[in-house]
Amino acid sequence: MKVPFYDSTREYRARKAEFDAAVQGVMSRGDFILGGEVAEFEKEAAAWLGAKHAIAVASGSDALVIASDILGFRDGAEVLTPTFTFFASTSCVARLGGKPVLVDMDEETLDMDVAQAAAKVTDKTKGIIPVHLFLQPTPMQAVMDLARKHGLKVLEDAAEAWGMKSLVDGAWLKSGTIGDIGIYSFFPTKTLGAYGDAGLMTTDDDGLAKKIRSYRVHGSSVKYQHDYIGYNSRLDTLQAAILRVKLRTTDESIDARARHAKRYTERLSGIPGLRIPKVRSDAREVYYVYNILVPNRDGLAARLKEKEIGWSIYYPKPLHLQKCFEYLGHKEGDFPVAEKISKEILALPMYPELTEEEIDYVCDEIKVFYQ
Ligand SMILES: Cc1ncc(COP(=O)(O)O)c(C=O)c1O
Repeated sequence: MKVPFYDSTREYRARKAEFDAAVQGVMSRGDFILGGEVAEFEKEAAAWLGAKHAIAVASGSDALVIASDILGFRDGAEVLTPTFTFFASTSCVARLGGKPVLVDMDEETLDMDVAQAAAKVTDKTKGIIPVHLFLQPTPMQAVMDLARKHGLKVLEDAAEAWGMKSLVDGAWLKSGTIGDIGIYSFFPTKTLGAYGDAGLMTTDDDGLAKKIRSYRVHGSSVKYQHDYIGYNSRLDTLQAAILRVKLRTTDESIDARARHAKRYTERLSGIPGLRIPKVRSDAREVYYVYNILVPNRDGLAARLKEKEIGWSIYYPKPLHLQKCFEYLGHKEGDFPVAEKISKEILALPMYPELTEEEIDYVCDEIKVFYQ
């Protein structure tokens, strides 16, 4: 048996008529740039998320740069951000001349260590970027309390967090709708994935929403009148049409991921040394990624590869050890938890179309390896 780490073609085959009709609709109307499907998708996404405004852009990475620019995470401003995350969560600040102030993580839950972030606040701290990784959000009550105490702006990197929820001030809120601006990625592997690059930004603030809309078209709200030095970052209408098809069944997809995660967890229990991240009680998880933490991770990865089982390592090198961030002055040993996790973590195949037989096969091979 061969189990790919990710396979978009299963979904396409199952719903070919819907996807083909969506794409052909755009082709026949020819409204490729900010066409009707983009506006419709924005409305539907805002409603699903419970956000006042949703503005679609070209990618999650672009969304992070635009949000950092608008929130003032630039020109020497310090911004708290985890060292264990995807590059774009931090490069957005660095690219604009801001200073990423890196923070270690919790070993059990894999979230940013918010207490350590609090200890790093200075009079130059402008904001915080909580990144909701893999399966659950960063503890958002603690993030919001810290932000309110010091007047920090909060940019939620919810690129991986479609559908996750946090308990904040007594209410369950979807990830990305809690801070000043939230961003999402619809990279194909994501819980809601496009068939190419795509991203979204949300905010409840009318002024920020207006600015984001302008920033995505060169800082212009009236053609050829430029109020800001903005960007060119618009969601492709074809991708919006595809995302609308997928949004119709996004709840079912999330449920399928939860069923798969439960099966993995049951089948993998009792393997000596293997652990899975803990879900906190103030979080509602969505399994974008199903990770295990294991001894001899690279040995296991090699064995799974031999057996044609796909896997991925998110992330093999924390950001403080990346060459481009040498100027921040960190060295090995500065963030011991992130360094340890980067050597133990392994992501297994996780997508709605995965079958029970495939999950059982993956688990059996892992068991054999550790016997
Ligand atoms: C945590 C995180 N932030 C940002 C991004 C960037 O999103 P994109 O790939 O859409 O640019 C990703 C995903 O790829 C991500 O996982």
